[in-house]
Amino acid sequence: MIEYDGSQNLIILSNNEISYVIYINNFGYLETLYFGKKLSNYNGILKSKELSDNGPTYFDLKKRKEQRFEDGFKIDASCLELSSHGFMDKRYSPIILETENGSFENEFLYVSHRIYSGLPKFHNSFSHAYGEKSDTVEILLKDSKERIYVKLFLSILDDKNILIKNLEIINKTKKEIKLHRAMSMQLDLPSNDYYLTYFPGRWSFERQISENLIHPGTQEISSNFGRSSHDYNPFVYLRKKDANNEYGEVIGLNLIYSGNFKLNIESGFYLDTKITYGINDEDFCWILNPKETFKTPQAVISYSYSGVDKMSQTFHDFIRQNLITYKKQGEYKSILFNSWEGCYFDFNTDLILSYIDKAKEIGSELFVLDDGWFSNRDNDYSGLGDWFVNKKKIDLHKAINHCKDLGMKFGLWFEPEMISYNSNLFKSHPSYCLGDIKSKKLYLGRHQFHLDFSNPNVIDYIFMQMCKILDEYEIDYIKWDYNRIVGEHFSSFYPKEQQGEIYHRLVLGYYSLLERLTNKYPDIMIEGCASGGGRFDLGTLYYCPQIWGSDESDPVQRLFINYNTSLGYPLSTIGTHVNDNKFMSYKNKASLALFGTYGYEMNPHKLNSQEIDDINDIANLYKKYHKEVIEEGDMYHLISPNDTNYFCAQCVSKNKSKSLVILVNKLKELDEFRYIKLKGLDSKSLYKNNYDNNVYTGEYYMNIGLNLSKEWLFEFECKLIVLEKI
Ligand code: DGJ
Repeated sequence: MIEYDGSQNLIILSNNEISYVIYINNFGYLETLYFGKKLSNYNGILKSKELSDNGPTYFDLKKRKEQRFEDGFKIDASCLELSSHGFMDKRYSPIILETENGSFENEFLYVSHRIYSGLPKFHNSFSHAYGEKSDTVEILLKDSKERIYVKLFLSILDDKNILIKNLEIINKTKKEIKLHRAMSMQLDLPSNDYYLTYFPGRWSFERQISENLIHPGTQEISSNFGRSSHDYNPFVYLRKKDANNEYGEVIGLNLIYSGNFKLNIESGFYLDTKITYGINDEDFCWILNPKETFKTPQAVISYSYSGVDKMSQTFHDFIRQNLITYKKQGEYKSILFNSWEGCYFDFNTDLILSYIDKAKEIGSELFVLDDGWFSNRDNDYSGLGDWFVNKKKIDLHKAINHCKDLGMKFGLWFEPEMISYNSNLFKSHPSYCLGDIKSKKLYLGRHQFHLDFSNPNVIDYIFMQMCKILDEYEIDYIKWDYNRIVGEHFSSFYPKEQQGEIYHRLVLGYYSLLERLTNKYPDIMIEGCASGGGRFDLGTLYYCPQIWGSDESDPVQRLFINYNTSLGYPLSTIGTHVNDNKFMSYKNKASLALFGTYGYEMNPHKLNSQEIDDINDIANLYKKYHKEVIEEGDMYHLISPNDTNYFCAQCVSKNKSKSLVILVNKLKELDEFRYIKLKGLDSKSLYKNNYDNNVYTGEYYMNIGLNLSKEWLFEFECKLIVLEKI
């Protein structure tokens, strides 16, 4: 619900649990008064914002008089929705623009607002949130000098503690303006008593965890790699000093965007926390012509006053219910077998047919032929951009028919945004390459160039080639890979004035191809991927209901990656496969993969009959429980592997009738007091578990805990426990 309280000039966003209050002050600034647990009334709230009156003053040039801001407003310290730039407020501002006269100053002041139900309309081909159970306030602001406007959008969901923020810049002057920074939001909090948790990483080591106290000064979490997330994931959270997994205030943040992002956190002389979030302004300069507007991606804020897990669960529900657009989202997902780690580029038709047979034996329902099926692609030096089947290597019709005869689906790998120097496309259209091809050298990543996806002709060309394949072959699934970063970001398609737009235009190109493909082939499921989990972000999830989590499939390292990823993203989105690694048994590896999308990626001919049986036991659990308990249920992070000897997670179906628990210990332990206290059960109901085969009440499991004290636990032993209400 959103109301306007005219007597106090307040805009109040609230649902059953939280309130967010904005005050339109007498000077036209929007002050953020409150963000927290729902208030029953807002009387006296204006008192809460008062600061000392020793802040900057101004000289009124008409009245020829020095003026003081009254009303407890301090222009360089008060919590604001949008700070100005170039005046006395030296804090980080979401907008920097250059007007025709060369000025970098801007100060956007209140003009009007309108409140409506639902979320703001977004143009197609740009990932965004949806959901009718929501309200939005759109606040129009005008620059104090120029006819430049900003619309601030703020939405609240009725059924989740989620706020969504973004803004739009509108040029009503007669001259072009240059946007040097156009970020999505600002969130000012009147305290710096928080820990910031974020997720740095690298290839095969994505989303490690790092935490620090907010400190005076500035901290930045960002990407300038052209894609979002190998290095820092756009998901972060702030945790009040006294908060933990179950108690206290936690504020999660993410951005619905797949390119360069920047999260700036600043704590100034008032010991506040000021968060600015949006597109990274490095090398960014967008020309906004008269009458044009620039819309920024949506930032999503998940608020919890009941600890980290509630913040995570809220994000999980939001992603599943308000973000993913895949038509079959919510339907049972087939068990996937991927060919990559089994045979890499080295296959022929017979080998693939034999893989399909074996995949079927371990319960697979979807066979995916990864890299290597097209053009002259026998290694990673060639072929990208030439999307036609290498018929000498693989009879694709035969492979697909074989799958269909066995009742299985079929999927193919693509890497649409790339081009090999050894390809027909590079010979025929060198200018499709990103970067200046007239210069002396172009940098390579995995021996390949980046296509210029800011150029619509390139998108048309790749779309046409992909359609030829998708029209000729019965494809149920695409793995969309992306294996290098953006290096040179010069586009020969655009004039020099627009080179600062290229990074963002590449993202728009990525979305526009996804949009065209998902419109034309709505039944095909697209799994995102970028050298593993290098583009694990909300922008991708809008089109792709799951994303390959990491090229690190070895179970021990993966355990950390999946645990940390699941703090911000539901398990149903984290592509996770059982591989050949010798360190753990197949049973244990499959149990772990069950807490992800679940699939296989190995040479299946190496499996012995016992291993096939073991894998099938888990595949049967997948078929019985995964959708209800793991894909749709609530997840609890019971014990973190980041700072204990255990990885322990639990999922509970929404109706609380079933639950799966997984426990892995890192180091060996002898018998000792060891109870796993479960969560989310119905305390009065009785549940049978398959660990000691006893029946206890939910209250027992949640307070006394399941007793695992009797046994020794060997290194990386894995317990998968199933509970069912009786
Ligand atoms: C990187 C991906 O992460 C892998 O799963 C695999 O698809 C390879 N690329 C193929 O080149």
